[in-house]
This record gives sequence, C-alpha cells and structure tokens, in this order.
Amino acid sequence: MKNFVVHNPTRIYFGKDCIKAVTKEIPKNANVLMVYGGGSIKRNGVYDQVKQALEGYRLTEFGGVEPNPSFETLMQGVEQARAEGVDYLLAVGGGSVADGVKFMAAAMLYQGDPVEILTSFGKSIKQALPFGCVLTLPGTGSEMNSGSVITRSSIKAKLPFSNSLVFPQFSVLDPTTTLSLPPAQVANGVVDTYVHIMEQYLTYPVDGKVQDRFAEGLLLTLIEEGPRALAEPDNYDVRANLMWCATLGLNGLIGAGVPQDWATHMVGHELTALYGLDHAKTLAIVLPGMLRVRVRDKREKLLQYGERVWGINSGDESQRIDAAIEKTRRFFESMQVPTRLKAYRLAADCIPVVLEQLRAHGMVALGEHSDVTPELVQRVLEDCL
Ligand code: NZQ
Ligand code: ZN
Repeated sequence: MKNFVVHNPTRIYFGKDCIKAVTKEIPKNANVLMVYGGGSIKRNGVYDQVKQALEGYRLTEFGGVEPNPSFETLMQGVEQARAEGVDYLLAVGGGSVADGVKFMAAAMLYQGDPVEILTSFGKSIKQALPFGCVLTLPGTGSEMNSGSVITRSSIKAKLPFSNSLVFPQFSVLDPTTTLSLPPAQVANGVVDTYVHIMEQYLTYPVDGKVQDRFAEGLLLTLIEEGPRALAEPDNYDVRANLMWCATLGLNGLIGAGVPQDWATHMVGHELTALYGLDHAKTLAIVLPGMLRVRVRDKREKLLQYGERVWGINSGDESQRIDAAIEKTRRFFESMQVPTRLKAYRLAADCIPVVLEQLRAHGMVALGEHSDVTPELVQRVLEDCL
C-alpha cells in the first residue's frame, strides 16, 4: 500500500427531516447567501424548508447556477455576495451548485484574478469563505470532498480544481429530497458514482485490501440498488443507500493509499464542454473503451473485478476480462444510459476535436501511469463510436 494522509473535516447530517440541522452549523450572526440552480428546489419543497430553518438569519439568495456551472455565472454571484457583505455560503442543489459554491467561496477572498483558481488547479487558493451544502442529487461526491469542476464557456473548457480550504463545513443529506429527481438524473448519479469508484479501484494492485473490498462493496450496492431506484421510484431506503454510496465513493477514503486513474473523467469533461452531454453520460461512453484499450496495464484488477463484483469465474483470462467490461457496459445501458457516441449523434469527426482540446488543456499524460496520451485516447474514442 502507498503512504497516505487522509483528513476529511465535513460533518454529515444524514436522514429524513434533517435540513433543519443547518442552524446548528451556521453561526447566528452570519450573513448568509443561499445559492441554488434552475429552480428544482422551489418545486420539491427544499427551498421552503431551508428558508424556514433559516428564519431570523440575515439571508439573501443567488439562483440560476446551471448544470456544469460556469465561471461567468458564478462571478455574478461573487459580485452580488461582495456587495451584500456575505460571509457564509449555503449550496442547495446538486453537484453543480456545490461545485459552484466552492468556487465562489475561494473567489470571494481571492487576491488577483479568480480565473487563476482554475489555471492553477486550485493551488493558488490561500483562503475561502466557510460554506455548507444541502444536497439534492447524489452522484458527484462534492458534498464531502474538496474538488470542483468549473466550465469556462468562452473557451469551451471544463476545468477541475481542488484545495483543502474548500471542503464543505457540513452537508445535509436527506434522501427524501432526491425523490423528485427525474429518472435520467437518478441514473446519472448511479453511473457517476460507479465511475468514481472505478477510477480509484481499477488500476493495478498495491495490496490495498481494505480499499479494494470497500470499493467492491460500493459497486455491488450500486448494481443492486441502481435499477431498483428506477423500478421503485418511491422507495426511501433505496435512495438512502444510493446517497450514502455516492458520498463514500468520492470522499477520500477508498482512494487513500492506492493509485488513481481519472483518465475517463478528463476525456468526459471535454465531451461535455464541446457537445453539452451530461457528465455521467460521457463517463458511460468512455469507461468501457478506456478499459478495453488498456487491458494490458489493468489485467490483474480487471480479473479481480470480474470475479468479485460480477462473479465471473470461467473462461480464459481474456474471455473473463471481456465479460467484465461487457457487464459494466450493460449495467450502464440497464440504467438507460447509452454507452456509444452514436447514441448521442456523435461520429468519428468529433475525435480530432476532443484530442485538440485535451492538448490545449495539458491533458496529455493521464492515468495511473501517466501514459494515456492523446494518441491512446484516439483509440479509446474509436472504440466508443
Ligand atoms: O438546477 P436545478 O433546477 O436544481 O435542476 C438540477 C439540474 O437540472 C436537477 N436537480 C438536482 N436536484 C434535483 C433536481 N431535479 C429534481 N429534483 C431534485 N432533487 O438535476 C440537474 C442536474 O444537476 P447537476 O447539479 O448539474 O448534476 P450533478 O449532481 O450530476 O453535478 C454534475 C456536475 O458535477 C461535476 C460535474 O463535472 C458536473 O459539472 N463533478 C464534480 C465532482 C466533484 N466536485 O468532486 C466530481 C464529479 O466527477 C463531477 O465531475
Ligand atoms: Zn464524476
């Protein structure tokens, strides 16, 4: 196992009716800005619950954070928050709102041009406002991590950044808030979580037994509960399991002490920035191809994954590996998430454009061995057509 340091300061409030816990965390004298997306929280009652909980607080709002939150929109929020003397942010929504608030928290106190937060991948952040999160869409893990992905629409780029100063102070996870999700967003959350786990698990063995078993347990949970969430949309326990699975999938625990890949995510980001595909849909397209093209490097973990997660014990090695990758692809399809570029009306002519963007963003040596070059990504995308 590799050496590691792990520290996660985010307090989680989990379960029914726990939105009111925000008052335990946000200081009574805070000047709070509640940040949200396109309005789903007004339709499902979450907005009212938060407003009610924060009665008596100094509270203003900034709505309109879009999926794949943009630098341009968030800077409007920063301007508003500065003008109002805001000193505490509360994200209410999905991963995009949580990510957007992380950026705003850093940008509010940034000395210099906040675009540097993105160009430095977060390294230039020296301070950030405190913030919390009321999560309504499980998947990204943003509620309990220090990462964020921001889109610069002007240059069609999705840029990830991270810094330990942008961990949420707390996150409220009430699975009932997810009951209003459209099936496509439920499926996106399951696929995103699945691929987060694979990015940290499906690399090469370092004898990280706890991390492996933990990751396999989370994958098995998704395989069991994902389809149930679509078939039994009112089942609270299914939603609760998926919500906790998503948080544990990317809060630092399963990734500590093991190699990590993330090439699928980086290629996916370019597809979203160029063609507007949902984040999870890009992952469902890219992951199977990424595994097929990199079988040689990932052989041992693919065999372990096939056996422990999918129960594949028969056939020679290459048949078992093919079967494990095919099971993965079919699982995404069973969640109603298509896994081929053509299903999204994309053809081979998109490939050089994606490669050019990867080069422009310095994404030329990806993966756990830093050997996923644009040339290799070309083969991956050809496999995904
Ligand atoms: O904007 P509103 O009206 O709220 O509607 C949203 C949005 O249209 C809707 N929604 C959210 N909760 C709902 C709901 N609709 C009904 N009922 C509810 N309870 O769902 C739509 C999608 O929301 P969004 O927040 O964009 O989705 P998601 O949570 O999948 O977030 C995606 C973003 O997270 C980034 C992605 O790149 C993408 O930008 N990621 C962040 C990560 C991180 N911080 O660690 C890791 C991930 O890999 C990912 O890259
Ligand atoms: Zn993701």
